[in-house]
Amino acid sequence: MKLRSADWFGKQDKMGFVHRSWFHTQGYPDDYFMNRPVIGICNTWSELTPCNAHLREIAEVVKRGVLEAGGVPFEFPVTSLGETVMRPTSMLFRNLTSMDAEETIRANPIDGVVLLTGCDKTTPSVIMGACSVDLPTIVVPGGAMLNGHFRGECIGSGSFNWLIKEKQGVENYTAQDIHEVEVGVARSQGHCMTMGTASTMACMSEALGLTLPGAAAIPAVDARKKLLAQLSGRRIVEMVKEDLKLSRILTREAFENAIVINSAIGGSTNFIIHLLAIAGRIGVPLSLEDFDTIGSSIPLLVNLKPSGKFLMEDFYYAGGLPVVIREMQSYLQMSVLTVNGKSLSDNSSISPCYNTEIIATQQAPLQPEAGIVVLKGNLCEQGAVIKPAAASAHLLKHRGRAVVFESIEDYLARIDDPDLDIDEQCVMVLKGVGPVGYPGMPEVGNLDLPMKLLKKGIKDIVRISDGRMSGTASGTVILHISPESSIGGVLALVQNDDIIELDVAAKKLHLDVSGEVLAARKASWQAPLPMATRGYVKFYIDHVQQAHLGADLDILRNSSGSKVIRDLH
Ligand code: FES
Ligand code: MG
Repeated sequence: MKLRSADWFGKQDKMGFVHRSWFHTQGYPDDYFMNRPVIGICNTWSELTPCNAHLREIAEVVKRGVLEAGGVPFEFPVTSLGETVMRPTSMLFRNLTSMDAEETIRANPIDGVVLLTGCDKTTPSVIMGACSVDLPTIVVPGGAMLNGHFRGECIGSGSFNWLIKEKQGVENYTAQDIHEVEVGVARSQGHCMTMGTASTMACMSEALGLTLPGAAAIPAVDARKKLLAQLSGRRIVEMVKEDLKLSRILTREAFENAIVINSAIGGSTNFIIHLLAIAGRIGVPLSLEDFDTIGSSIPLLVNLKPSGKFLMEDFYYAGGLPVVIREMQSYLQMSVLTVNGKSLSDNSSISPCYNTEIIATQQAPLQPEAGIVVLKGNLCEQGAVIKPAAASAHLLKHRGRAVVFESIEDYLARIDDPDLDIDEQCVMVLKGVGPVGYPGMPEVGNLDLPMKLLKKGIKDIVRISDGRMSGTASGTVILHISPESSIGGVLALVQNDDIIELDVAAKKLHLDVSGEVLAARKASWQAPLPMATRGYVKFYIDHVQQAHLGADLDILRNSSGSKVIRDLH
């Protein structure tokens, strides 16, 4: 077979000399360049992304597998997106990393790609980029941290953060208590070990058929993570020989399967935005409504925090994702192809469950209907989402008066003002946290409640915004309102004391204000000033699409393929 990389290394002219010669500086022998598949190992490693800080080590093991199978591995870095530190939000840069991955893969002599992923955005970003090139590609998820422990109890990373205000203000936790949690919840390498966005993205990769079977649940520090890395290195070389490209795996059926699995595992709402963006790159039609029609009445099988009890390490010991796939087979399209060249059915037919408290059966699920509900109404003409499994049952049908925060700064300044006119019947409304408005659509939708309500023992009230919510959080939180307020969506027109109606069963979110009043408010509405006037952020604001389309940049949708017509001289 003629390899793509042979167009660089196989030439016997001036440019062939240039392409090979400089690589000899790394000590490679001549036969490295003789028609051997070149495997790019796309590494999202960074010490600023603690969840991915072990990926240099994993890359070395992948290389071992590539070499064993007769390939040539070259590791390369891409912009790494650390969820816990990047401001204003790592989501602002997901599309940037996708561009970085796409252009690096296409511009270089690469025949197949291994994507090393971990922290939330590091997974969708590089998959999106790889889709726009469409070479044979395999994902190696970095794995979750070991279970967190605090005073004899298991605690989940991410999920505890959202309780700190309550713990300090109501349960009188001291600084020492908080410090103990802080270290006890971060015991090993790896990403968040709740079913937050990172774990959801690992499961999404496996459900789409992009990983070897069982990859998603292996903890970062388990020796089997390295075994998986080595086998993935071997396998990508075969995939190049089979020309098993991403587009052969990422079919409409694969996306539908991923939606079903996400509901069954109780996955993050962020899954929606990322899956829509990935589908947009590979050219598979997928709409926000599909998440509702395919995923909103799926039984919940996996008992993991934030909505359940256990953590990723427990999920692995119970059998991991292949058990869920086998259990859910009547809902899935089991004949789809996966990266190992076998079907979903082949990969999961013998997958015993070792603990039905952690992975329930379809006959006796944790909840009969989980998944994500897509809401419609005058407040969200293009849709909004809610995860009922993470919400309070008594609030799923609710009518309440709006308490409006015009921006995150407004919220921070007033939320604990004793004079704030709010009670548990109210609906907290936050504006200006959409893709354009913040910018980057941060995870602020799960607003902390006012201290005066926490002190009354109130744990949840309805909250709505155009932002996202961390996959590790929970509450009756309506997210991803589209169109967002900063571009003049109806959310921008909500005022204090307006009545808002939520009816999750009827899939409805309604602002009970007449059309004439809204039209008058709209006439005097002024768009906020753009959040940047130069650089990547300006480019992002000018091109980002709304949440219901996956918040990708309009010019990045679809693929440009792997061809580069011109050489560098
Ligand atoms: Fe990286 Fe949660 S912060 S996965
Ligand atoms: Mg997150």
